[in-house]
Amino acid sequence: MQNNLRVVTLDGPAGVGKTTLAKRVAQELSIAYLDTGAMFRIFGWKFGEAAPTMSEQELEAHIAQYAFSLSGIGFKSVLSVNGTPVGDEIRTEEVAALASSVAKLPVVRDALKRVQREISTQTSLVAEGRDMGSVVFPTARYKFFLDATAEERGSRRFNQLQEMGKPADLDLIITQIKERDMQDRTRSIAPLIAAKDANIIDTTELDIEGVFTAIMDFFE
Ligand code: C5P
Repeated sequence: MQNNLRVVTLDGPAGVGKTTLAKRVAQELSIAYLDTGAMFRIFGWKFGEAAPTMSEQELEAHIAQYAFSLSGIGFKSVLSVNGTPVGDEIRTEEVAALASSVAKLPVVRDALKRVQREISTQTSLVAEGRDMGSVVFPTARYKFFLDATAEERGSRRFNQLQEMGKPADLDLIITQIKERDMQDRTRSIAPLIAAKDANIIDTTELDIEGVFTAIMDFFE
């Protein structure tokens, strides 16, 4: 199976469980896991709110300062920027909103698309994101699109935060998820949408185990 396996795409909206599943699928298949959301988060975090007002030349000059690389497989996959592994500093709702905002910029999307494709020439991988199956890897053999209602995704996130002992406001989380959905689904370039040939899995009634089994069934 692995000889002809190059790229598995896993797309879907915020909070649907993509990261947990993508890492697990990569581990099971012994291939790398690529978190493309982290790439947009890095640019959102580094460029800040000013990004949408920058000229294309300015943005290109900023983008050129960052080199991404991917090492390891499965749970041990590590995405680095300029040689430093990406850390938890990008895992906040503020950075997520900035990421969503830079993700609308064609220059940013084009640059990251090139980097993502380049990485896929070096290693087989599970690529997690919004447009992996539809735009970046249209010829991928295995494509998955996960979905669930905003309320369900919000309550999963709420439970995660509570388990970590972090303060959480369910209504606020659901509102933020809906806002990010809106930005991601309505942008004119590479909107969040299932590729025509993607396997769509509605996870609303499934736990992680159920979704994992549903995905792995396609590989047998
Ligand atoms: O997946 P994550 O929540 O980390 O992604 C952060 C934001 O980056 C998303 O809300 C989306 O706007 C953007 N993104 C994207 N295309 C991808 C991955 C992420 O537009 N392939």
